[in-house]
Amino acid sequence: MKHFSRRSFLQRVGEGAATGLLLPALSGLAQAAPSERVRHAVIGAGSQGRRHAQVFASLSDCEVVAVCDVDPERRAALASKLPNGDKVLQSEDFRRLLEDKTIDSVSVATPDHWHTPIALAALQAGKHVYVEKPCSHNIHEAKVLVEAAAKSGKCVQHGTQARSADSLKQAIAFMRDGNLGKVRMAKAINHQLREPIGRQPESDPPPGVNYDMWLGPAPVHRFTKNRWHYNWHWFWDYGCGDMGNDGIHQVDQARWGLGVGLPNAISASGGQLFYDDDHETPDTQVVTFEYEHCYLLYEMRLWTDYPLEGHDNGVVFYGDKGKLEIGRNGCDVTLIGGEKTHLGPYADIKDHMRNFLDCLKANDPSKLNAPVGEAAASAVLCHLGNIATRVGRRLHFDPEKWECIGDPDAAKLFTREYRPGYELPALG
Ligand SMILES: NC(=O)c1ccc[n+]([C@@H]2O[C@H](COP(=O)([O-])OP(=O)(O)OC[C@H]3O[C@@H](n4cnc5c(N)ncnc54)[C@H](O)[C@@H]3O)[C@@H](O)[C@H]2O)c1
Repeated sequence: MKHFSRRSFLQRVGEGAATGLLLPALSGLAQAAPSERVRHAVIGAGSQGRRHAQVFASLSDCEVVAVCDVDPERRAALASKLPNGDKVLQSEDFRRLLEDKTIDSVSVATPDHWHTPIALAALQAGKHVYVEKPCSHNIHEAKVLVEAAAKSGKCVQHGTQARSADSLKQAIAFMRDGNLGKVRMAKAINHQLREPIGRQPESDPPPGVNYDMWLGPAPVHRFTKNRWHYNWHWFWDYGCGDMGNDGIHQVDQARWGLGVGLPNAISASGGQLFYDDDHETPDTQVVTFEYEHCYLLYEMRLWTDYPLEGHDNGVVFYGDKGKLEIGRNGCDVTLIGGEKTHLGPYADIKDHMRNFLDCLKANDPSKLNAPVGEAAASAVLCHLGNIATRVGRRLHFDPEKWECIGDPDAAKLFTREYRPGYELPALG
């Protein structure tokens, strides 16, 4: 297997930017209508990448033709489960897949710190992108991704699959029609039991793993089992805590229902009341996003089980005539003095992938259920909630410029220092 050095990573992206060879408008593929059968590649072969591969492969007009992971065991295991597994292109390097002009689209199901860098490179190579949530690891990346998607004209679907649920669409239309009266508050609730992760010593990465590529733009840190598969979520270098992990689903639905974009101010508190282990991110968090006409609240408890609020993880919209509750069991409407009405069921990720393929085949991002602008707004809310929690004070935010007002410490966390060789590709 060929290992690309960090230096060559930079050079290759740089060469592409300089010659325009990677620009979608100039690539032959961007002009050509995708074949009837979409040729899709999955980047990241963890549990979510496996889910992507399985569902995309189950759709009759899609074929999963390539799998990428820096962990050879996961890569081979996933490829072997696919129809025509022996013919599936396998690589540890996503650029190998992006070079393949027969590939129409990619899933980005890596850790969060790789979402935007890979999505940008994929757009530059003329691919449509299904990027897992959160679409970015910081606010700067979200902005760059929106710009790149607009320039490319390609479809970018976000892994907030509840946006494809008919029951949610109906419930939100019902609320928007004024049936709950004036809705001035939504509460996004994320509570679940996430067991402590203990403490893990530094060690060598498993044999054959390209750990440098796993780290990518993040600073070099010796391998530990906790900074690796799945538990990376709980380290700021790679993840966004549970607010950017599971909480983004509820934040996105709350924002969608309220019909709001970016807030004017954010206040937050959060900490570890439960964990005493390697976790860096909070187990308890409360955030308020202030808009002109409403508030969006986020509450997170990682030390209790789902049914505590009488519904699953979800969102409650409070109007002056009633409330709407959205949970993973569906939606319930209760008008003051009335019975509870149940609308269901909840989202099936297959519907979201179907929507992506339909848009991709029509080359029409305007019909995506979770387009990049919505993706970026919800990711930015999660980043703002985390930043306000980390600096420990109320933030003032300019929603037009996506800038923090008068707080240089907070502004520093709007981006990151990219490890030399892993800077974001320049927009052509
Ligand atoms: N939409 C949803 O409901 C949902 C559910 C679960 C997970 N997710 C998202 O999916 C993503 C993956 O989650 P997971 O639980 O599978 O994590 P995971 O850590 O188990 O898997 C990620 C995989 O990506 C690989 N990887 C890391 N860097 C890579 C690179 N540069 N190139 C190729 N492969 C690389 C890792 O080796 C690993 O196998 C996360 O962003 C998570 O938030 C979304």
